[in-house]
Amino acid sequence: LSSAPPLQLAETYFKFYPGESDPVWGNPCDDSRHQKIWSKNKSCDSLPKFLVIGPQKTGTTALYTFLSLHPAIATHYYFEKSATYFDGELVPKRVHALLPHAKLITILISPAKRAYSWYQHTKAHGDVIANNYSFHQVITASDTAPKPLRDLRNRCLNPGKYAQHLERWLTFFSPQSLHIIDGEELKSNPVEVMNEMQKFLKITPFFNYTDHLRFDPKKGFYCQVISGDHTKCLGRSKGRQYPPMEEKSLKLLQRYYLSHNTALVKLMKRIGIRNIPNWLKDDLSDSS
Ligand code: A3P
Repeated sequence: LSSAPPLQLAETYFKFYPGESDPVWGNPCDDSRHQKIWSKNKSCDSLPKFLVIGPQKTGTTALYTFLSLHPAIATHYYFEKSATYFDGELVPKRVHALLPHAKLITILISPAKRAYSWYQHTKAHGDVIANNYSFHQVITASDTAPKPLRDLRNRCLNPGKYAQHLERWLTFFSPQSLHIIDGEELKSNPVEVMNEMQKFLKITPFFNYTDHLRFDPKKGFYCQVISGDHTKCLGRSKGRQYPPMEEKSLKLLQRYYLSHNTALVKLMKRIGIRNIPNWLKDDLSDSS
């Protein structure tokens, strides 16, 4: 009996099973043999129970901060916020392989607004492209434009194709494990959003956020109440000041997202969401 050298053997194997060349990690705690060889200082209780999956610029940091204020969550729950999970091609498959029972939380705002917020974010970080091209130039960049410009255009536009990304999550997770937050409501009424969240996560005892979040007129957003009448707001990079989007860019984006937004309404209705966010209705009616 003879065998090919390991490298050759592996090449032959992956020719037959190409899908296995990129490993998908399962949960080591599901198999006692895996558990035995797992690092001693890793525990089966330390995997997240729920994930805030994004997308970027929808209020994920505010939500993360508010969740962390909850005493039961702070002491009993592992959770994670990774805003780029939302639109990653392979992420739903990988998350499902590792955490099939995880609950997922996503926040949605107008995709046009999200695109603009991302542009402003990139610009504030000193990105050369964002500082040399206007938002309108970025979103209208053609496929023959220089790669860095196309990359920025794609990061502005692609995550906002919400229905496409959510459908991918829904091929791996049931609608019951997905909670969609209206990002505009998170800004205007975070107490109610956090109440709904506690119901979704079935977290007890109930934590009344009314005493812990207060609108700060200087910041223009809700902030954490700390001792008496002081508030602690998110940093300067969250809730930035910038000029409003040009009307022509807004119109263009509302048209660009029309089919995606229409698909989103359908998806929401299909999974039993009765309250369609106002921004979604507005985007749809303004684009016609
Ligand atoms: P802008 O800075 O463009 O206004 P993320 O944390 O996902 O990157 O999202 C950032 C966005 O969160 C901000 O975008 C802001 O509009 C929004 N946001 C929602 N609630 C907020 C809060 N309480 N404080 C600050 N920003 C908040």
